[in-house]
Amino acid sequence: KIRYSCGEKRRGMKKKVLIIGGGGREYSIGYFMKDEAEIYYAPGNGATEEFATNIDIKDFEELANWAKENKIDLTIVGPEDQLVKGIVDVFKSYGLTIFGPSKEAARLEGSKVYMKNFLKKYNIPTARYIETSNAKKAYDFIDKMDKLPIVVKADGLCAGKGVIIAQSKDEAKKTVDEMLSGKAFGEAGKKVIVEEFLDGYELSMFAICDGKDFVLLPAAQDHKRLKDNDEGPNTGGMGAYAPTPLVNEELYQKVKDRIIRPTLDGMKKEGSPFEGVLFIGIMVVNGEPITLEFNVRFGDPECEILMPLMTSSVSDMFYKASTNKLSEIKVEFSKQYAVGVVMASGNYPYSSSTPAEIILDDVKHDEIAKNTHISFAGVSMEDDKLYADGGRVLVCVGLGDTIKRARDRAYLRCGQVHFAGKKIRTDIA
Ligand code: AMP
Ligand code: GLY
Repeated sequence: KIRYSCGEKRRGMKKKVLIIGGGGREYSIGYFMKDEAEIYYAPGNGATEEFATNIDIKDFEELANWAKENKIDLTIVGPEDQLVKGIVDVFKSYGLTIFGPSKEAARLEGSKVYMKNFLKKYNIPTARYIETSNAKKAYDFIDKMDKLPIVVKADGLCAGKGVIIAQSKDEAKKTVDEMLSGKAFGEAGKKVIVEEFLDGYELSMFAICDGKDFVLLPAAQDHKRLKDNDEGPNTGGMGAYAPTPLVNEELYQKVKDRIIRPTLDGMKKEGSPFEGVLFIGIMVVNGEPITLEFNVRFGDPECEILMPLMTSSVSDMFYKASTNKLSEIKVEFSKQYAVGVVMASGNYPYSSSTPAEIILDDVKHDEIAKNTHISFAGVSMEDDKLYADGGRVLVCVGLGDTIKRARDRAYLRCGQVHFAGKKIRTDIA
């Protein structure tokens, strides 16, 4: 039996890549490999149809069968939900190549208790904490804490809402009660973490991992609050930029040595080597990086600003990472900055909005045409018209030699996008 590697079999032919998801994050991954690969989305969105084929299959087994029949070379998973539910294990059982962590490894995001205990076991810096499903134990820990505020977290996935910063001990105890009773987050809150508050500045770092080796991408900063000056409710993210000048070589090195390396080594020892994107939420306290959380996928909108900074092949990076061969390639980034401004619909993040037609002006100015693009997220296409039909509708991305130039360009592009109720922050980056 002759075995061919994917590269050999398809020499001269484009690889076939299936991307799971349909947000701006997945759009940007596909958009930046569309010249290298033939792209399919499950499910994709109204704008991915412009350069890819959308397929409508949700069931993992059915999807894997489809991928097998259609000779998909590589599948890339965007959202955490499918990862935590084990899509990678199903695809691998079909002999398919897929980028993302196994169900076991995805617990680094799926269970904060698992993550915190893992960090403690392998001596990786994180906030002091207790994990418990017992209210009395949580109360005792809270009573002994000497500083406010106090952070209370639900164990499971809560769509970004499971972390409460309590300003008093009473509030912390009340939060513990609400979580443990199941009132606040159902099963996801039946175990809690109570931890000390870290005072510093926050960064997002992303490492592409193949179980053994990793590539660290430029550090990004996200803007989570809905309104300017970090006011209003938390959202999935209203904008981001990279690289952030808050990080120097020394800090990158500390993150590699103290967080990423021991995490990959530890996960291997645990029997669940980590493959995929390790998204590290970091608080820098007095120059030292402390792990706030792990996610096991790209951030959104961080992905939309990191993909355009890559100068080496995007598809090759994902392919090599999925075949445990990251060490064979050099992943390279441009010296530019990228700024992404999210355009959301009128009622975001509270409720859905009536779909509104999106009008995109022709981009006449050469500088803007060359240095900006749009990553589409919550959009649908009907009769050749594009409609805003999701919370975060799209991201206008600008590139430049300085953050200011990149930001000015991103905002100029925003001015050329119109739909009823559109909402942006004016102070990104
Ligand atoms: P997490 O999902 O654990 O990242 O928490 C969401 C957000 O809550 C983080 O991005 C931080 O802004 C904040 N946060 C979480 N844990 C802490 C902590 N121990 N100290 C300060 N802020 C925190
Ligand atoms: N932008 C933060 C996240 O994707 O979780």
